Amino acid sequence: MIDPLKDILSRPLRDLRISVTDRCNFRCTYCMPKELFGRDYHFLPKSEILSFEEITRLSQIFITLGVEKLRLTGGEPLLRKNLPELISMLHGLEGLRDLTLTTNGSLLASQAAALRNAGLQRLTVSLDSLDETRFAAMNDVDFPLSRVLAGINAAVSAGFSPIKINVVVKRGVNEPDVAAIARRFSGKEYIVRYIEFMDVGNSNGWRLDDVVPADEILQLLHSNSPIETLPPNYPGEVARRFRHPDGGEIGIISSVSQPFCGDCSRARLSADGHLYTCLFSGKGHDLQTPMRAGASDSELTEIISRIWRARTDRYSEIRSDQTNRAPRPKAEMSLLGG
Ligand code: GTP
Ligand code: 5AD
Ligand code: SF4
Ligand code: SF4
Repeated sequence: MIDPLKDILSRPLRDLRISVTDRCNFRCTYCMPKELFGRDYHFLPKSEILSFEEITRLSQIFITLGVEKLRLTGGEPLLRKNLPELISMLHGLEGLRDLTLTTNGSLLASQAAALRNAGLQRLTVSLDSLDETRFAAMNDVDFPLSRVLAGINAAVSAGFSPIKINVVVKRGVNEPDVAAIARRFSGKEYIVRYIEFMDVGNSNGWRLDDVVPADEILQLLHSNSPIETLPPNYPGEVARRFRHPDGGEIGIISSVSQPFCGDCSRARLSADGHLYTCLFSGKGHDLQTPMRAGASDSELTEIISRIWRARTDRYSEIRSDQTNRAPRPKAEMSLLGG
């Protein structure tokens, strides 16, 4: 066997997050603020977006380099036409251990069963509030909460279990939802994960003051009874795990207050086929051009290996006031996937 691929900090490549579209039907204020992602925003033209065949081919190459988990993201991945077809193509790849997807849930009610039947193994749904008004304000397109809840129910009926519920917590916006969401999704069918508001991209007006740090999120949950810590499921897991007093599992993703770059084994493939080695990268490495110019599998393998071997990213660990005062350009999360 060839030497396993490692980056400069000895981190393997295990996890590939694939954005299947840069478009979204929500305008979450922390991700695609509508003042910046308006009518005249230039989304990728169709010709630039990787086809299902191209995504599958690159995925197979990544798997031979050590990737075990594929996560489909966006933008909103369920906006991509015929997505179940891609899922069944990926599901058949040799060596793949885990196939999962992150969605805003808006289109899940009609698609959950087809996704499951196509071979999707796990599902994460983003949901920031159980209050109709706050939910509409956070998605900023007045999308009704009831449709996302119906989507989650459809996913349970389709057999997804446990379903992860991602909650971005923003100071002064949705702290009251922290405990409410844990209570509502306390059953074995769910794992709720709270995410500190992050400075991804350049357009969400991030300020440290708007971050509710993990310790404070835990206090918001603690108010009734104590919380038990659980060990990580695997090295490099982004969420710290806890058992909620009501019985369910919860997780906290503290990228700002307690960064986890040390064993980050994640790569991101944007919808136009650029490889990003960090969520906070400014620029991706273009794989689309060589692939469309006829590069062989072994040539693409070599290109990707070279990129990974040179990787030094640890943005969250070196984030500082300095960086915040003199921000450098970063790719938007809707382009490179969450
Ligand atoms: P599992 O496969 O279920 O363990 O999921 P995961 O741990 O990969 O989590 P998920 O993909 O649901 O990520 C949850 C959120 O954590 C993402 O949407 C991001 O907001 C954040 N996140 C994930 N990966 C990274 C990362 O590499 N760096 C940073 N800073 N944040 C991340
Ligand atoms: N900070 C933290 N999480 C974010 N997400 C999107 N933007 C941000 C941000 N600025 C989350 C979404 C979703 C996942 C893909 O990333 O809510 O759950
Ligand atoms: Fe869309 Fe997800 Fe970004 Fe919200 S966080 S705008 S749902 S991609
Ligand atoms: Fe990985 Fe970059 Fe996130 Fe650190 S900041 S965990 S290197 S994606």
